[in-house]
Amino acid sequence: MTEKPFVIAIDGPAASGKGTLAARLAAHYGYARLDSGKLYRAAARHLRDMAGDPDDPGAAEAAARRVRADELDDPELAGDDIAVLASRISSYAGVRAALLAFQRDFAATPPKGAVGAVIDGRDIGTVVCPAADIKLFVTAALEIRAERRARELSERLREADPASIKARVLQDMRERDARDSERAQSPLIRAEDAHLVDTSGLDADQVFEIALGLVEAARRRP
Ligand code: C5P
Repeated sequence: MTEKPFVIAIDGPAASGKGTLAARLAAHYGYARLDSGKLYRAAARHLRDMAGDPDDPGAAEAAARRVRADELDDPELAGDDIAVLASRISSYAGVRAALLAFQRDFAATPPKGAVGAVIDGRDIGTVVCPAADIKLFVTAALEIRAERRARELSERLREADPASIKARVLQDMRERDARDSERAQSPLIRAEDAHLVDTSGLDADQVFEIALGLVEAARRRP
């Protein structure tokens, strides 16, 4: 019998550093990684392409049912407009239900025969994988997250300087945080057994070292 995959669940708000951490842990251990936000972003794109109404839960669920694994690497999903639409439709129970099996299958049977999975999102430790081997809740102060995202966007768009777009990014992020945290379905909350990692004053290497210590301790547990 093959051994049960080791599952690392990482949750946290936008630009908290959870994505970078998830990618580094997956590379370090040779685990498969799923950025679950991409599923919601892909659903949002389908809805937009279908000219569906974001206020219609049925249309949003139909869009979520169209999501396929092979579209998740599309760079178009990285846009902030898609993120805003994703955060609007991710409050619908039907949308979340449509995307749940994919995430659970990924954890139970990681692709390419990987012996573990790293999944990051908002509700991985609370709803998707409540029995994960280790749960991390990665966060940072709103101002700092907005600064990081503004810098990232200005590099990607190669135009506006970070200071000029920061105000808009801050506003978008504040609204998205509120929507993600206050919704009835799978809100962004720290699972009781999740380790809190505040990345506010840390760089990516320091965050990785802290997480590695926590994961190593969990791997040693019988
Ligand atoms: O993580 P990312 O910013 O790509 O996620 C986009 C949106 O998808 C989030 O703002 C959130 O509303 C939704 N999401 C979610 N549950 C997840 C991952 C993402 O509701 N597990």
